[in-house]
Amino acid sequence: MSDPIVHRFDVVIVGAGGAGLMAALQTSANAEVAVLSKLYPTRSHTGSAQGGIGAALGNLEEDHWEWHMFDTVKGGDYLSDQDACEIMCRDAIDTVYELEHNGLPFSRTPEGLIDQRRFGGHTRNFGEAPVRRACYAADRTGHMILQTLYQQSIRTGVNFFSEFHALDLIISDGRAAGVVAREIKTGQLHVFHGKAVIIATGGYGRAFKVTSNSLSGTGDGVALAFRRGIPFEDAEFYQFHPTGIYRMGILITEGARGEGGILINGQGERFMERYAPTLKDLAPRDLVSRCIYSEIRAGRGINGQDYVYLDLTGLGRDVIETKLPDITEFVRVYLGIDPVTAPIPIQPTAHYAMGGIPTDLDGRVVVDEANTPLPGLYAAGECACVSVHGANRLGTNSLVDIIVFGRRAGKHALEFVKTADLPPLPSDVTDRARAEVDHFLSGHAVEPPANVRADLQQTMMDLASVLRTGSGLTECLSRVEQLRERFSRTRPQDQGDCFNTDLLETLEIGYLIDISHALAASALARTESRGAHYREDYPERDDKHWLKHSLAYWRDGRIELRYKPVSITRFEPKARTY
Ligand code: FUM
Repeated sequence: MSDPIVHRFDVVIVGAGGAGLMAALQTSANAEVAVLSKLYPTRSHTGSAQGGIGAALGNLEEDHWEWHMFDTVKGGDYLSDQDACEIMCRDAIDTVYELEHNGLPFSRTPEGLIDQRRFGGHTRNFGEAPVRRACYAADRTGHMILQTLYQQSIRTGVNFFSEFHALDLIISDGRAAGVVAREIKTGQLHVFHGKAVIIATGGYGRAFKVTSNSLSGTGDGVALAFRRGIPFEDAEFYQFHPTGIYRMGILITEGARGEGGILINGQGERFMERYAPTLKDLAPRDLVSRCIYSEIRAGRGINGQDYVYLDLTGLGRDVIETKLPDITEFVRVYLGIDPVTAPIPIQPTAHYAMGGIPTDLDGRVVVDEANTPLPGLYAAGECACVSVHGANRLGTNSLVDIIVFGRRAGKHALEFVKTADLPPLPSDVTDRARAEVDHFLSGHAVEPPANVRADLQQTMMDLASVLRTGSGLTECLSRVEQLRERFSRTRPQDQGDCFNTDLLETLEIGYLIDISHALAASALARTESRGAHYREDYPERDDKHWLKHSLAYWRDGRIELRYKPVSITRFEPKARTY
């Protein structure tokens, strides 16, 4: 293999979704910034976000950021850090207007204001009734955010390295010093040497068989940090969105229920009225997903099968086609069903990681229970855990998170690089990445990597999804360990350098194994139910023992768990009712 090509920048950003681009925009006018992505930027998964971005603009009815904060904290089952929630809900308002001024084509009210719709768990006056808080661009809100930020990034001179796959994080003298990446087109190794690194690589829904996540959602940044000794915070909290297209997992936005869609079981009953009398179909996702599982278990799925219906037929053609055009097309194309006249078969789909790389309020990565920052290293977006979403994220808050904390990470990184020097590069800077690539591009395959991926996704779906038990998680852990062993004996069929996406996918399976390992171990240890982590053998929330964040470390081939306190400022934990 040839020598690596070395680039020098002030700020190196890995990931070109909403968080990465928002961070890039804060830094690019005053620093040399590189954004590398394994995709072409506008293919990033942010583009799949559909229904809206939450901000208490109050355009259609009274609203306040404090109400938004309360809903976020309660929705997160009181595991959210409230200092972070306060910043997010307050700054959401400004950042939405900033996006508007940057050209984002929001849907409008007849008066020309940004239109707002209802979304799960968002209420007025601390839980009284649903409120219209989600600002939206039809059901293409993420797509519009991504296009807007990409255009602005081009305008401000961000240096893009598209289709570069990050393989290792460089830490030198206790500081972040860049990343090692592989150019997908050629197989050439590159070193992106920087004063600051911002990880913004998104989530890892691909660990599960049924997911709304794009193929790229393989947790690369979380795994690379984890391998370098950085903990994985709250790994056990993984959210299933209630309405994925049956068996395919493709998202049907919660905005569909915000517009008036309802969930129906096999007896034609609007079952959420029983479980959540106030918010009904707009209860938070953890609750709605569990209720769907309960209905199915009780034999009340459609025709006794493992799905229920999302019924939009009461909305009328005009609302469906103008406010929900993308999901209408998905349903027509993938199911051959017209949602104007027929209900949609749905099941919960793996959607969002509440956990990730721990950060402080400025996006600085912190490495221990005392929140000690690792200088020069930042994370933002789904790969990060600041933690605003606690044990269960409210719909629309992922887009708020990427924009608010992408911006804060970018601003702080810019200040940091103004005075920081470039840390020295270790002499063995590419050794680890090279060894990993060499391993998979030599020797013989015992089996194809895709077999391991399929078994991993099935295992996680069966044993670590919406409903969990101690015995299931023990079995899950043991299977993940076996899969790790099997994985080491796989090889991609393509052994070449040019556009070797087979190798890329193989390396991604390695990330998913690391993530699943930490997730299962953290979930097994947490003997309570909270938010999206539901233990059938421990069905109650246990604040006395478990009102704390978990930190999973990778130490000598094993997971070590530690814990740190939750920041509680305004809202004392209470029982959740909806
Ligand atoms: O349902 C949705 O449109 C998803 C939004 C979100 O995850 O925030």
